[in-house]
Amino acid sequence: MRIDIATLFPDLCDTVMSESIIGRARRKECFELHCHQIRDYTLNKQRQVDDYPYGGGPGMVMNAQPIHDCCLEIIRQNEAQGLPRPHIVFMTAAGQPYTEEKARQLAQLPNLLLVCGHYEGMDERVIEELADEEISIGDYVLTGGELAALVVADSVLRLQPGVLSAPEGYQEESYWNGLLEYPQYTRPEVWQGRAVPPVLLSGHHANIEAWRAQQARERTRQRRPDLWEKYCKDRGETEKE
Ligand code: ADE
Repeated sequence: MRIDIATLFPDLCDTVMSESIIGRARRKECFELHCHQIRDYTLNKQRQVDDYPYGGGPGMVMNAQPIHDCCLEIIRQNEAQGLPRPHIVFMTAAGQPYTEEKARQLAQLPNLLLVCGHYEGMDERVIEELADEEISIGDYVLTGGELAALVVADSVLRLQPGVLSAPEGYQEESYWNGLLEYPQYTRPEVWQGRAVPPVLLSGHHANIEAWRAQQARERTRQRRPDLWEKYCKDRGETEKE
């Protein structure tokens, strides 16, 4: 998979994507990631990327032109590599809510372009012109789309072959099957007077599986009634204790 990020802070994005699990996988070439400076596509001497909003109001709005020209160059680079035109996602607080299900969909694509706004937003016309979709990572407002793009890139890339050391790892995690993850423990057996649940030391795999499934269900029911309701409905089960 190839991911491109169009941003005013390419070094920030590049640094985050060079560390830890994603950084290691990037060096192993499990995927390709490129960060692009939108400011490089300005046509004015000051390299200014934003202007006052028509109609007045606080803050500045990013101009359509540099975002557009940056995206066209990214599309050209993808096509020169024999890839299709990338799926284009604009990161905005007004987008559709991001979920693991969306991460799984995006992870199937050969290439993806994430576009980050800054300031009070972007000229709507460049979104209309280029966006396949707009995504929000939650009901709160960030100062820019970079953290949102990094959340999307991380959650999509961890699903690519070779990124995680144990591929079955992500199947058990939160949201994969609609339930929250069961609690995990490691050594020592007793810490600060708190013992590991005895079933996990029993070596009885069927009992361990049953305990974990029960914990996942119970946690979901208590912490996320919204997810629990959907889980039960999808399985045609009535709510259990
Ligand atoms: N830009 C500003 N806030 C955002 C959010 N919540 N999600 C995605 N992009 C954003």
